Amino acid sequence: MLKKIKKDKKELMRAIKDEVVALKKSPLYKYRIENKNLPVIGQGSHDAKVMFIGEAPGKNEAQTGFPFCGASGKILDELLAYIGMDREKVYITNIVKDRPPLNRDPSPEEIKIYGPFLDRQIEIIEPKIIVGLGRYSMEYIMRKFGLESKLEPISKLHGQVFETTLPYGKVKIIILYHPAVAVYNSHTKNMLKKDFELLKKL
Ligand code: URA
Repeated sequence: MLKKIKKDKKELMRAIKDEVVALKKSPLYKYRIENKNLPVIGQGSHDAKVMFIGEAPGKNEAQTGFPFCGASGKILDELLAYIGMDREKVYITNIVKDRPPLNRDPSPEEIKIYGPFLDRQIEIIEPKIIVGLGRYSMEYIMRKFGLESKLEPISKLHGQVFETTLPYGKVKIIILYHPAVAVYNSHTKNMLKKDFELLKKL
């Protein structure tokens, strides 16, 4: 039975990948093909209790097809190691699955096109804790889970825990600063470390 569920999850994830690969209606599709980039679907365990959601792939990610494998990924790895969390045991993804040109912020249209794939990933993985990294992820997650009335600047919301109930049970939501803010700033890195300690407690 367990094997079957695992197989189903794999197939559902594979379907998402196939659809994103063929997503010609995306404004980012042409850029991906022209630059021989790859879409970045996600990485980690399909049974993860904790799911990290970033914004969109950067250059390294689009070249390898893996999320958070560049400078921000190094910080994320450090933070995971800091609380003894295994990268293979969590699931890491982004709202937008293709790299925006020159790493610009994702547009509302792009978030609208790629958001449903993220929604499906949440339904497949059924995480108990969802961690939003950065303000785009914060806005998407808070709105998706009916928490828009609690939206505030990320400087206020980071490190707070919200709760929502999904069809599979209660889910905790935590918003954290995007690891990119800590690449050149040890103050924000310390703030992120403190917020990760909270994640460890949960
Ligand atoms: N920034 C993100 O938001 N996601 C990545 O995968 C890499 C950098």
